[in-house]
Amino acid sequence: MPRIFAAAVLMLASTAFAQPKNATVDTVEIHANTPGATYNRHLFGQFAEHLGHGIYGGLWVGEDSKIPNVQGYRKDVIDALREIRVPEIRWPGGCFADEYYWREGIGPRSKRPVKVNTNWGGVTEDNSFGTNEFMNFTELVGADAYVSGNVGSAPPKDLQEWVEYITSPTNSTVAQERRANGRDKPWKLAMVGIGNELWGCGGNMLPEYAADVTRRYSTFIRAPEGQHIMKVASGANSDDYHWTDVMMKKAASAFDAIGVHYYTIPYEWKHKGAATGFDEDQWARTLVKTEKMDELLTKHSAIMDKYDPKKRVALLVDEWGTWYDVEPGTNPGFLYQQNTLRDAVVASLNFNIFARHADRVRGANIAQMVNVLQAMLLTKGDKMVRTPTYWAFDMYKDYQDGTVLPVDVTAGWYKKNEWTLKAVSASAVRGKDGVIHLGMTNVDPNHAQRISIKLDGEQAHEIHGRILTAARMDAHNTFDDPDHIRPVSYDGAHLSGGTLSATLPAKSIVMLDIK
Ligand code: AHR
Repeated sequence: MPRIFAAAVLMLASTAFAQPKNATVDTVEIHANTPGATYNRHLFGQFAEHLGHGIYGGLWVGEDSKIPNVQGYRKDVIDALREIRVPEIRWPGGCFADEYYWREGIGPRSKRPVKVNTNWGGVTEDNSFGTNEFMNFTELVGADAYVSGNVGSAPPKDLQEWVEYITSPTNSTVAQERRANGRDKPWKLAMVGIGNELWGCGGNMLPEYAADVTRRYSTFIRAPEGQHIMKVASGANSDDYHWTDVMMKKAASAFDAIGVHYYTIPYEWKHKGAATGFDEDQWARTLVKTEKMDELLTKHSAIMDKYDPKKRVALLVDEWGTWYDVEPGTNPGFLYQQNTLRDAVVASLNFNIFARHADRVRGANIAQMVNVLQAMLLTKGDKMVRTPTYWAFDMYKDYQDGTVLPVDVTAGWYKKNEWTLKAVSASAVRGKDGVIHLGMTNVDPNHAQRISIKLDGEQAHEIHGRILTAARMDAHNTFDDPDHIRPVSYDGAHLSGGTLSATLPAKSIVMLDIK
């Protein structure tokens, strides 16, 4: 007998589940008999930069803080990140990375130099969160470490010794320095970034020069005997395909992966649009702009295919997410923004896009983890909220290292003014647990979608589901109402006589687990 979990706690407005009389039937066909690439767990990677309260106050409060902490790290943040199984964290930037001198962030904290964060708000950077603090943090969270090296303003020797400090099991002076700083065993360093945005804040380089610089710095990143550290080249800004072409043509042998950065900005750089209180035009334009990720990945991948048909080099979207105007009254250099149902929908659309490119796109880092841009978590004093984006990551977490099952979606169009996109987006992954996880998003904020789900080469016996939706497009969690929007059990799917169907309420994300 099919078992469909009934909605246990339907805190959400019942209107969210109402079906309009004119709902058409769309189809989602899952090709379970032709499995594709692995959905690399690194696609759920995070980014933590020295920016605003991304580090200080957001995850690091110091051992003497009244805020409950584990060795100086916020306990609530560690617990929340462990729950979504954060696979990897990129640090210390961003633009911050190419002005960061790792030696200033080791040793007794009271002796570390005090600097000015020139990129982000001109605030004091006391270096109290440095290499030991970051590497220990990744271990507490259970995540891989992705360290971005300073290529813009430090010599290669600096990066070489940083990697040695972190990873060397030898008795070299640098490794002994690590021991003197309280860490005997080397840490595991999964990835090193060869600079960040070398075309911009990382040094304003032209691609030909950046390719040479990348080859040079790559030479001196030395992993200990028998280990591999993934070397990540600084990638293109959005649709700068020339950058990818030159880097691949001239330097691909020097790296294992190349990045690409793409932010979803509803309007333009000077006036990006507000994080809350937006109208439907802004909802639609945001989602159309985020869907551009699909085109970017297709075109960058095609260029990479020319030079690397066997797909040895991975494409990493090592910065992505929404970028709005900062919240009124906050420091413009801190990039602090609220996070709503719209952001969760943006995340789910990107997760679905990543599935279509999983053979080449093997990692991504949302910007950023705590208190900055499209954050998982927002903190204020001793309070913390999980954002709708956090819940999207939670709903999709069983995709990690599963196998992509190709999906065909036949659906109508959602249109608002000049903005048009397919009303339904979907992806499916057979998780490592053997279960088929089907993520579906209805982007239409006004109409439900009825879906007929076809499963090729497989028979469904049991389904469970969770849904994230709300009455308002800008529904969000606040410090006073931290659970205003969160996933609940979903009772909109039906299995009868082997036929599977579902109704997606307006503006909703549904994750179905099919056995
Ligand atoms: O994420 C904020 C900034 O955006 C990063 O520091 C930089 O790499 C990008 O331009």
